[in-house]
Amino acid sequence: MTTINQQAGAAATAMLGLGVHRPERVVTNDEICEVLDSSDEWIQTRSGIRTRRYAAEGESLLDMATIAAERALKASGVAAGDLGTVIVATSTHVQHTPAAAPLLADRLGSRAAAFDVSAGCAGFCHALSVASDLVRGGNAGYVLVVGVERLSTFMDPTDRGTAFIFADGAGAVVVGPADEAGIGPVAWGSDGSQSHVITQSVRCDELSPEHPLFVRMEGTQVFRWAPFAMADVARTAVERAGLTLDDLDVFVPHQANLRITETLARNLKLPEGIAIARDVQDSGNTSAASVPLAIDAMLSSGEAKPGDIALLIAFGAGLSYAGQVVRLPRA
Ligand code: COA
Repeated sequence: MTTINQQAGAAATAMLGLGVHRPERVVTNDEICEVLDSSDEWIQTRSGIRTRRYAAEGESLLDMATIAAERALKASGVAAGDLGTVIVATSTHVQHTPAAAPLLADRLGSRAAAFDVSAGCAGFCHALSVASDLVRGGNAGYVLVVGVERLSTFMDPTDRGTAFIFADGAGAVVVGPADEAGIGPVAWGSDGSQSHVITQSVRCDELSPEHPLFVRMEGTQVFRWAPFAMADVARTAVERAGLTLDDLDVFVPHQANLRITETLARNLKLPEGIAIARDVQDSGNTSAASVPLAIDAMLSSGEAKPGDIALLIAFGAGLSYAGQVVRLPRA
C-alpha cells in the first residue's frame, strides 16, 4: 500500500517578536469635523477616539507592512530567508490579484509561500492561528503574520457612521517554535446572516472616482452584537487554553470602539488588575492591524511586558471572529 508521509512540527509555538508601524500623520477629531457633521465631544463620548493616524500621500499599504515586518523580524531574531510562510491580514489591499503577501515577501527578500487573509477586523487573530498550526504541523519553520490597513483610502469623509472610526497602521509578528506554548487554541466562527452589517463594495462598475469603494457599517448592529457574543467567544478561548480568567495579565480586544471594549470587559467580569488595551483612543480602529498595534502600545507604556498572558479577541466584517490566549512577544 502506498503511504503518504505526514510530518509533525514544533511541539509548541509562540510569537517570537513584534513590530509595528504608525503613520506619522496624526488626525484630530476637529480635523475630521471640518468635513463631517459631528463634534470632538460626540466622537469622544461615543467611540473614545481622540486622534487617529492616516498614512501620508504616497505611503502605501505595502510600505507600512514592510516597516512593521522588518521590525518584527528584527525583534524575533529571524532572517527573512528563514520564513516558510508570509500571511497578510487586510481588507484594504487595492488589488484582488496579486495578493499583498507575495509582494511583501519579495520586498523582504523572501520566497516563502505567501497569501492574504480576508476576515475584516478579525483577520490578525485568524492569521495567527493559521500560522501557529503551520509551525506545529511542520509545514513552516517560521511564519510572518502582518495585519495592515489603509482605511483612509476607503472612507467617505462625510459618512457619520464610519468617518471618525477607521484609520491606518500595521502590526506584525513572527511565529515560530518555542520551549513553552505561547499561542493557545483558537475560538473562532462566523455569522454570515449578518454580512450586511459591515461592507466594502468591490463591484467593477463602482471602480471609478465617482463611486469609490467606501466602507459602510450599521454601527448600532455591531454594538448590539460584539460586546455580548464576544464575551462567550472569549470565555471559550480561555477554557480551550486550560486557564481561567484569573490567569490573565492582559486583555487585548480588537480596538473597535472604547465603549465596546468596556462593555465587553464588564460582561466578561474580568478580575481586577487585568490591564485592558485602549489604543483606540489614539489610533482609531485600524481593523486587522488593531490587535498588534494595541499590544505594542501596552508594551511601550509598561502596562504589559513580554511573557505576560494575554487574551486576544478580534471581530468584525463577515461577521467573523477569532480569539486566543497568548504569551506576549518582545517588541
Ligand atoms: N456625529 C454626531 N452625531 C451623530 C453621528 C456623528 N458622527 N452619527 C449619528 N449621530 C446622531 C444621530 O443623528 C442620532 O441623533 P438623534 O438622537 O438626535 O436622532 C444620534 O447621534 C444617535 O445615532 P445612532 O446612529 O443611533 O448612533 P449610535 O448611538 O448607535 O452611535 C456609533 C453610533 C457608530 C458610534 C455606534 O453605533 C458604535 O459605536 N457602533 C460600533 C461601531 C464599531 O465599533 N464598529 C467597529 C466594527 S469592527
